[in-house]
Amino acid sequence: MSEDCLNQHLRKTLARGRVAVTRPAGCERIALYLFDPAVLEGPLSHDEAQAVVAEPAYWSFCWASGQVLANWILDNPLWVKGKRVLDFGSGSGIVAVAAAMAGARDVIACDIDPAALEAVHANAELNGVSVGLCSDWADRPRDLDVVTAADVLYDPDNRPLLQVFRQAAPRVLLADSRMKVLGDHAYCKQTVIEARTWPDLNEFEEFNQVRIYVAGTTSGETEAGKKDWKK
Ligand SMILES: C[S@@+](CC[C@H](N)C(=O)[O-])C[C@H]1O[C@@H](n2cnc3c(N)ncnc32)[C@H](O)[C@@H]1O
Repeated sequence: MSEDCLNQHLRKTLARGRVAVTRPAGCERIALYLFDPAVLEGPLSHDEAQAVVAEPAYWSFCWASGQVLANWILDNPLWVKGKRVLDFGSGSGIVAVAAAMAGARDVIACDIDPAALEAVHANAELNGVSVGLCSDWADRPRDLDVVTAADVLYDPDNRPLLQVFRQAAPRVLLADSRMKVLGDHAYCKQTVIEARTWPDLNEFEEFNQVRIYVAGTTSGETEAGKKDWKK
């Protein structure tokens, strides 16, 4: 049923579009309904390309930053464990699903695209976790512990949100490969990890270098850091 709904959404812009269950190479522990590239036997026609560009189904791809942040959260669950987490610009929901799998108390996925929220719901079910949905940042719950966001700064209108996220929660976990300089010194770079959007969109190499930042409280030490501290 979920799969049928997602196929219907895709077919609004690409008549031969369909989803398939996929494990993105950058975070194979999570299964997702994503665009099935097998349907593209030939190049997109002009009309198909125009329709896809006019209304991109972001949720049907898993972006490099989402894979990297999800994998990092699964490796370092203390950043979210027991916390109320909101994932902004959730798309497929990979980061929200990772937070739930890592033991967050409550996870809310926020996306302006109603089809993305359906994808998050389907993908949470696929991975056996529960994720709440929110269609507008303005309607978010007020008692958040952590905001996560992966690959949302491509839209210049979202860049002022870096400060807004910090005001909304004591901790922000951000992954981005688009902006070399964030311009907000409260965000501390943790690591840089290579990944590719899945299915692969053959983006410029520079967009495959994902930087993870943390702003705010940093008591959720990484597993590696915790081991060092115990030595
Ligand atoms: C490039 S996709 C990234 C999806 C996912 N985080 C990932 O890394 O795979 C960006 C997503 O952010 C959502 N988005 C963009 N601006 C938004 C806004 N102002 N409020 C909520 N969602 C937004 C889009 O609808 C899209 O699903």
